[in-house]
Amino acid sequence: MTYRHVAAMPEEVIEMLAPKPGMVIADCTLGGSGHSRLILEKILPDGLLIGMDQDVDAIENAQNVFAGYEKNVHLINSNFINLDQALLKLNVEKLDGIFADLGVSTHQLLESGRGFAFSKDEPLDMRMDHDGDFTAADIVNNYSQKELKKLFWDFGEERWSGRIAERIVTQRQISPIQTSGELAEIAVWAVPKKAAFKMKIHPGTRIFMALRIAVNNELGVLEQFLDKAVDHLKPGGRICILSFHSLEDRIVKQKFRLLAAGCDCPKDFPICVCGKESRLKVLTRKPKRPSQEEVNKNPAARSTILRAGKKL
Ligand SMILES: C[S@@+](CC[C@H](N)C(=O)[O-])C[C@H]1O[C@@H](n2cnc3c(N)ncnc32)[C@H](O)[C@@H]1O
Repeated sequence: MTYRHVAAMPEEVIEMLAPKPGMVIADCTLGGSGHSRLILEKILPDGLLIGMDQDVDAIENAQNVFAGYEKNVHLINSNFINLDQALLKLNVEKLDGIFADLGVSTHQLLESGRGFAFSKDEPLDMRMDHDGDFTAADIVNNYSQKELKKLFWDFGEERWSGRIAERIVTQRQISPIQTSGELAEIAVWAVPKKAAFKMKIHPGTRIFMALRIAVNNELGVLEQFLDKAVDHLKPGGRICILSFHSLEDRIVKQKFRLLAAGCDCPKDFPICVCGKESRLKVLTRKPKRPSQEEVNKNPAARSTILRAGKKL
């Protein structure tokens, strides 16, 4: 299997994670192993890379990429909310670095056959974890019109959410919506022609993103993961997160801000009663963005937002 994905902001990620020989670093979203490869180069000869991905395709690819490095690389097919169990199993107490590159890989979008892209006609699945509980087709065929509208608005900020939801419900009364191609066509019909003409993106772009976020509970697991991630770092250990849309980035920004602030007592309390202390130094006051040169070479990286912090 060839696995297509170009790692986004590779130099900036390495600068922020600062991997050094002997370090133990978790890449929680292996994908095509692009970032992991760079991290491994820096931590050799004695370091340990823990590579996680909920998609078994990424793990199978990584087994080939890291053949011969079994002493330095542990691969784990799991959601990153299970990082604690993974560390426990490996007998690793604390990490020098945690990295996550959120969202979907080029392989998943274009080669997985799981209906992530409106440009393909494939089963409407969208599960990154092949054994996930429900598919995009389950949502599209079972949510009420109101629930679909809310989902497309909340996770896709799609202006025509109501019309697309209405069209889906009409269409599925004739026959269930089974493929990404059928759903893309519905979006094209639902959006008024004039508006669609002015759109710079396919009318299905935002609803596909919203469905993917819902199927994989992407925002929920990110919150849970960030709540605990810093506990796993050694003092001085780094965390670096790449996000691709504003909803993800808002979560990362707010969690980092809370961890940096420590005390969360109301402002009018004369003294701190919560006892929480600052646990993170934010290294990116302003988030880092890819250079124009990188975007020219790899347009998929254009909306990447990098935030990093250092455990106190
Ligand atoms: C953008 S790709 C990562 C690309 C990778 N950094 C590279 O250089 O090739 C995102 C990967 O994260 C995985 N992923 C997304 N959410 C995850 C989660 N909650 N737990 C584990 N893996 C996840 C996806 O399956 C996908 O393979």
